[in-house]
Amino acid sequence: MTRLGVNIDHVATLRQARGVQYPDPIAAAILVELAGADGIVCHLREDRRHIQDRDLYLLRKIVQTQLNLEMAATEEMIRIALNTKPDIVTLVPERREELTTEGGLDVLKNHRSLKKAIQRLQRGGISVSLFVDPDKDQIKAAEEVGANAVEIHTGHYCDAQTHSLQDEELKRILDAVAEASHRNLRIAAGHGLNYVNVKRIAEIKEVEELNIGHSIIARAVLVGLDRAVREMLALIR
Ligand code: PXP
Repeated sequence: MTRLGVNIDHVATLRQARGVQYPDPIAAAILVELAGADGIVCHLREDRRHIQDRDLYLLRKIVQTQLNLEMAATEEMIRIALNTKPDIVTLVPERREELTTEGGLDVLKNHRSLKKAIQRLQRGGISVSLFVDPDKDQIKAAEEVGANAVEIHTGHYCDAQTHSLQDEELKRILDAVAEASHRNLRIAAGHGLNYVNVKRIAEIKEVEELNIGHSIIARAVLVGLDRAVREMLALIR
């Protein structure tokens, strides 16, 4: 059965928009686990735009399933990971000006630095996944640098505007999955998956885990709004 990791970054985005204490991503993580998800994912960004250091620290204390920390392979983040010990680190590229992670890691170009980072994290008992585009050469390089797993970037598949473009992107993902499977890498996939486009990715049997954030948090706002309004009406009337 495909496992689901829920990324709770955007609960923190809502909190940071007002600089208040709610909604607390810690409370969200507890609800996500109670609903049956297999893991909690968060991205501690250099600019701390959503998840804060305090969130990561508390998540490590309360998450009972699996905590997957997405981060850039910087000295600061490697130190934080080694101190907090998430179960998995997913290394991602990071640019300050991007709205969200835009592409996969260039493992070929950053071979040496990634290999070093992976070794340090693994020595600390942390399993390492690399977020890569569906590209055979990147998958091959991921094995060479010693990654335990790859997370295949589904963003282009999700952004495809026509059926034929989506088919092309799916084909790229399937080829990448075959390559990763051949190299005995564990395989996750994610980015941009939503209630409409997830089915074809969930059908790929080698993909063990899907990591989904924005669409689930966005849906929670809408499916929870009716009750939230009723509760406020009950208070004021
Ligand atoms: N996987 C990775 C590596 C990501 O960087 C993100 C976004 O933080 C996700 C999955 C989740 O993407 P989305 O929020 O679009 O579901």
